[in-house]
Amino acid sequence: MLPDITIYCADLSKQQQARDFADTYHYPYSEKKPESAIYLCFTESGLSLHDSHVNSDINIDFTSGGLAHRLQYGGGKGQTIAKAVGISSKNKPHVLDATAGLGRDALILANLGLRLSLIEQSPLLAEMLKQAIADAADNPLFQKASAEGFELYHDDASIFMNQRKIDGCDVVYLDPMYPEKKKSALVKKDMQILQNLIGHSAEADNAALLAAAIKFARQRVVVKRPKNADNISGPTPTLSLHSKKTRYDIYVISTLT
Ligand SMILES: C[S@@+](CC[C@H](N)C(=O)[O-])C[C@H]1O[C@@H](n2cnc3c(N)ncnc32)[C@H](O)[C@@H]1O
Repeated sequence: MLPDITIYCADLSKQQQARDFADTYHYPYSEKKPESAIYLCFTESGLSLHDSHVNSDINIDFTSGGLAHRLQYGGGKGQTIAKAVGISSKNKPHVLDATAGLGRDALILANLGLRLSLIEQSPLLAEMLKQAIADAADNPLFQKASAEGFELYHDDASIFMNQRKIDGCDVVYLDPMYPEKKKSALVKKDMQILQNLIGHSAEADNAALLAAAIKFARQRVVVKRPKNADNISGPTPTLSLHSKKTRYDIYVISTLT
């Protein structure tokens, strides 16, 4: 069932922007704190997504907190995600992150000197990403990370890739919502909010994404999965790389055709 979502304008200087967004996507609009379980709040300092079930908010900020710290000090080419996309001194792939979510993986890859294109299907998350990119535009850390390009598309990634809305990319990176577990482990609050907003992934949607990505990517498709999850339906991965909680299934295009 789709969650009950309201667009909440808490800062009257954002009234036009908030109203336009609500009208475009047919969400109810309020200038009083909504009763609905989930609301996107337009505030003076930006956008925040509140989930009453979890009693917490998600903000996307590329310039402070853990992500900014990682941009400044952490994570070189030895990270598993860097190996998974195939970075080397001779290969700086253009990566399409087709399931952008909160933009964290995309920013980590961009910070390794790669050009990133991002697709997000959820209008709420796409709006938050758009705002985060605009807010970070003058920040030197973000400028350095996005120097090769960091462009966002709000779309369904399967349609986007099947219709080739941009020229193919070297690598397509997929991190679909994790499948529903019988015994659900406690996930972090921001992932609980994403699950309440988007739901768990449907196998057929994941298979469609993988098939489209394999046709679109020039070099490889990388799928991020929970460590013990089944492969997405489709071809067998060429290889898999493991980090503590995550598995990266890699489909090397030249081995599939
Ligand atoms: C687990 S989150 C991705 C988290 C992301 N890797 C990060 O680092 O923040 C999965 C995201 O994929 C998006 N998504 C799922 N299917 C999609 C599709 N067909 N097209 C575009 N986005 C999709 C969901 O809306 C959700 O935001």
